[in-house]
Amino acid sequence: MTSATTDHDTTGQAGSADAVPATYPPEGAFIATANAGAALYDRAEADRLEFWAEQAGQLHWDQPWTQVLDWSDAPVAKWFADGKLNVAYNCVDRHVLDGHGDQIAIHWEGEPGDSRDITYNDLLAEVSRAANYLTELGLEAGDRVAIYMPMVPEAIVSMLACARLGLTHSVVFAGFSPTALRQRVDDASARLIITTDGQWRRGMAAPLKAAVDEALGGEPSSVEHVLVVRRTNIDVPWTDGRDLWWHDTVTNADADHQAQAFDAEHPLFILYTSGTTGKPKGILHTSGGYLTQAAYTHHNVFDHKAGQDVYWCTADIGWVTGHSYIVYGPLANRATQVVYEGTPNSPDEHRHFDIIEKYGVTIYYTAPTLVRTFMKWGREIPDAHDLSTLRLLGSVGEPINPEAWRWYRDVIGGNRTPIVDTWWQTETGAIMISPLPGVTATKPGAAMAALPGISAKIVDDAGAELDHGASGLLVLDQPWPSMLRGIWGDMDRFRETYWDRFANDGWYFAGDGAKFDTDGALWVLGRVDDVMNVSGHRISTAEVESALVGHTDVAEAAVVGATDATTGQAIVAFVIRTANAAHSGDTLTAELIAAVSQEISPIARPREIHIVPELPKTRSGKIMRRLLRDVAEGRELGDTSTLVDPQVFEAIARG
Ligand code: PRX
Repeated sequence: MTSATTDHDTTGQAGSADAVPATYPPEGAFIATANAGAALYDRAEADRLEFWAEQAGQLHWDQPWTQVLDWSDAPVAKWFADGKLNVAYNCVDRHVLDGHGDQIAIHWEGEPGDSRDITYNDLLAEVSRAANYLTELGLEAGDRVAIYMPMVPEAIVSMLACARLGLTHSVVFAGFSPTALRQRVDDASARLIITTDGQWRRGMAAPLKAAVDEALGGEPSSVEHVLVVRRTNIDVPWTDGRDLWWHDTVTNADADHQAQAFDAEHPLFILYTSGTTGKPKGILHTSGGYLTQAAYTHHNVFDHKAGQDVYWCTADIGWVTGHSYIVYGPLANRATQVVYEGTPNSPDEHRHFDIIEKYGVTIYYTAPTLVRTFMKWGREIPDAHDLSTLRLLGSVGEPINPEAWRWYRDVIGGNRTPIVDTWWQTETGAIMISPLPGVTATKPGAAMAALPGISAKIVDDAGAELDHGASGLLVLDQPWPSMLRGIWGDMDRFRETYWDRFANDGWYFAGDGAKFDTDGALWVLGRVDDVMNVSGHRISTAEVESALVGHTDVAEAAVVGATDATTGQAIVAFVIRTANAAHSGDTLTAELIAAVSQEISPIARPREIHIVPELPKTRSGKIMRRLLRDVAEGRELGDTSTLVDPQVFEAIARG
């Protein structure tokens, strides 16, 4: 049996003498106005496809579909295939046409303290200008555009302008290195990169456009232009003819633009994510099904009420959470939302709570790693603020431990708010497993149940369904509207990664371990493959290993994710030096940390690097990561009998 990589209290019991509830049933006042009711499960159960058709019907379609799902080319799904719509029209124009143009779409909060309120009217004008200018640049539907930007409004405008024109965007997290950017730009053959001069990081302007220049130096690339938003005013290197200022071009373009409808299966975006090999996977999402599920989940899981709520998802648009729950889901549902540019401790640890108070945030969606960081900073900080506007809290990115769950509810949620622990992935496009507020009695730490319209099973390696109480592999046994449609340029890898494992059953293998407890609540236990989850960021061991062996002093490297109290997992590396290595000790360690930041991103920096004479290998040459995890987590070594040379590694463990 493959085991999950993280251990959690999965009993659902408090386990201590203090009488804390084991479950949190929905409260009357919340139930009375909740968007979702228990009937939603029944409707989906009665006719799944009809249920999804109903959800899709919430969007504006220029041409209605006749077939909800075409699964004949499985595992490539076609949802609403002969329907046509424009994603940006659904997120912007229709709200203006419905008379809500003056409603604030985005309360944007810049890191240095500047802010902008952007109405749906403003958003429409900006997206139209950008669409007109991108057209003038000669970009055509189907072309790819890379977006490498911090959390500025123009990043959202750029995504929507692409969607409006049928251009496929590929957002690259602005914390990624030039090497990582280049890899992604090349893989998608992007014709344009949109970026900023620099980005604010804890009061300092850090260069960003310079990273684009570095990425594009050397070999010629597919990129014809670099469009640059001025954000920090730092000096930037400039290539005439290639580089264009946003304020000289987009800002002067016509603010009227007629959106044209595209096929429901038109590619909307590619988003790269780590897999078990060194090369990131370009996850492909399309339009109609994706927008349907993003909007449906945002409406029901967050109980979002247009015109009333002030919603805040703290993710970055560089990740899928930012795509589905900052851009597409909320804007399709006419949300008023906060978008914040900086880190939670700029200028100090009060920042998020200041923002919640300033805008009267009602729905707050963040990651467990931040909750645990808040816990570390101490409850005096949130306690100094009026957080009484909050009425719902969300969690995403990694399992939330019951202790953090309770703290989140008590301290941030005033022991009042429901918490939705939402499980999903870049590949699933939208939330799949989560409580429904107003319906589900939640257990701290459990993602509870598949949403109406979604079907999940927990099975053993052979695909047999497991009894309640047993841990196994999480599979999705029915197609869903926002599912990935492939890996860009590598459909074989798409089949191998997700579908070959349970090919006979036609199930999607998520790569996570999970269990139903004896009450039938679903617990997600963590990855079962060589993917680490650091602060909710997916990082592959192979990617980090390849960055480490790229250093001339390193002969071999093995990387594992070790349990970490704040970040969920932390990266621990073991390296063997080459015979004539120039460096050792702290010098080498520092160089290796720099190499990983340079190759991938500072988010992939190892917490520890152990320089060792040997790695634990089986006789067939496979590195035994289980033993490395034992060392990294300070445990007694497990079974070493299959090692070539158990003594060497036992010495490492002792040392
Ligand atoms: O291991 C699961 C974990 O994050 C992985 C997906 O990562 P990514 O594609 O980067 O998307 C993150 C945001 C959706 C999953 O395979 N994960 C995500 N949410 C949860 C989770 N693990 C447990 N509980 C969650 N709520």
